[in-house]
Order: sequence, then structure tokens, then C-alpha cells
Amino acid sequence: MTRHARLAVVASGRGRNLQAIQHTIEQGGLDATIVGVFSNRRRAPALAFAADRGLHHFALKPKRFHDRAAFDVALAEAVAAVDPDWVILAGYMRILTPKFIDRFSGRLVNIHPSLLPAYKGLDTHARALAAGETVHGASVHIVTDELDAGPVIRQGYIHTADDDTPETLGERVMSRVEQQIYPAALAELSSGRVVYRDGGIIRDGQPQKEAPNDCYDAD
Ligand code: GAR
Repeated sequence: MTRHARLAVVASGRGRNLQAIQHTIEQGGLDATIVGVFSNRRRAPALAFAADRGLHHFALKPKRFHDRAAFDVALAEAVAAVDPDWVILAGYMRILTPKFIDRFSGRLVNIHPSLLPAYKGLDTHARALAAGETVHGASVHIVTDELDAGPVIRQGYIHTADDDTPETLGERVMSRVEQQIYPAALAELSSGRVVYRDGGIIRDGQPQKEAPNDCYDAD
């Protein structure tokens, strides 16, 4: 896709990735518009940020639905109504069912705070430290039906420090890695430089064997 991209962002929490994406758009680094911000939590700071920027935003309460699939159908309807080219998961902390994933197949993107395929799931920073990892980071990937297992578009890493806690490490992964690689990966997708095809990533016309993985340690 090479046209101006319409992005729907789905978030549960602080929204720092959302902020980085919006900031990059405003700075001219990503030819896109955020056409809606969606959340399962009415009080998510991500929604407050959206409201502050005048972005369309919408919360849907899981308790109003009898099961996860029914919630996902309603969420998918709300997202589809803004006619997005890409659906961007930015700290969305509910497991999605195929009801949602299949509707946006091939244009659903996530950021996960680990160097996938390592540390899928939760508590990634604590698990990386407990394992004595010397590097840790984040990955932007296409979402498929298998949790945190879709093809990776790009990654970034930093070195861990002896005195790191899950909190200090998580903060550095967020501010140095996530906030850089998510807008960068979205720019590659929306410009057509990176394409998702037949279950794999095509970069500059060639199948991507290994995702770019840059170091984001401070100078
Ligand atoms: C980010 O670290 C993101 O990678 C992670 O949640 C955080 C959300 O922060 N996502 C996941 O763990 C998804 N499984 P944010 O709301 O400030 O962008």
C-alpha cells in the first residue's frame, strides 16, 4: 500500500506507543492518520491522549458481553466502521479471538516487549532478567491466530544492566526501542517497502529471512 494510511489503534493502557505513532505522524515521519483509538478500558490513558488530540476514540466494556468472542465481534464492528487500512495493537492486553483476528487478517500489527520468538506472553522483562539475558528488546509483528507468533517485521534491542529491575529495563525498552521501532515498522508497511504475503514478510521485493534488529543503547 503506498497511499496515505488510515490507522485504527487498539490499546488498553498508558498509550506510549500510541503517542509515539501520533508524534511521528505529526513530525512527518509516517504518512498516516489515526482514524480511531479503541479500548477495553474506559479510563485507559491512551483514550485520554486520543481525546486530548481530538482523535476519534471509543471504549467497549468487556462485562457487557457474554463471552470473549461476542466482545471481539463488537470491537471488530467498531474498528471496521472507521475503515482502517491497518489495525495497530498498542498495548492491548486482552487475548484476541479469531473473530477479531480473521476480520483484519494481514493488516493487524502488534508490538511485543521481547525479542521474539523469545518470551512470548506476559512478564517479559522479569523473565529476561531471571534468565540472565544480556540483551533484551521488542518486536513488531503481523498478528496471526497463534499468540505472539506472527512474522516479525523489525526488532530492536538494548543491553541489560547488572542493577536492572523489570521496571527499569521495561522503561528503557519502551522509550529507546518500542517508541522507535513501531513508527518505523508502520512507515515501512504503509509505504509498501514491507509487504506481508503468503505468511511471510517481503522487504524491498525480497523474502525477509531475518528481521532487522538494531541496537538502541544510548551513545
Ligand atoms: C508495551 O510495552 C507493549 O509492548 C506491551 O504493553 C506495553 C503497552 O505500553 N504489549 C504487550 O505486552 C502485548 N502482549 P503502552 O500502553 O504505553 O504503549
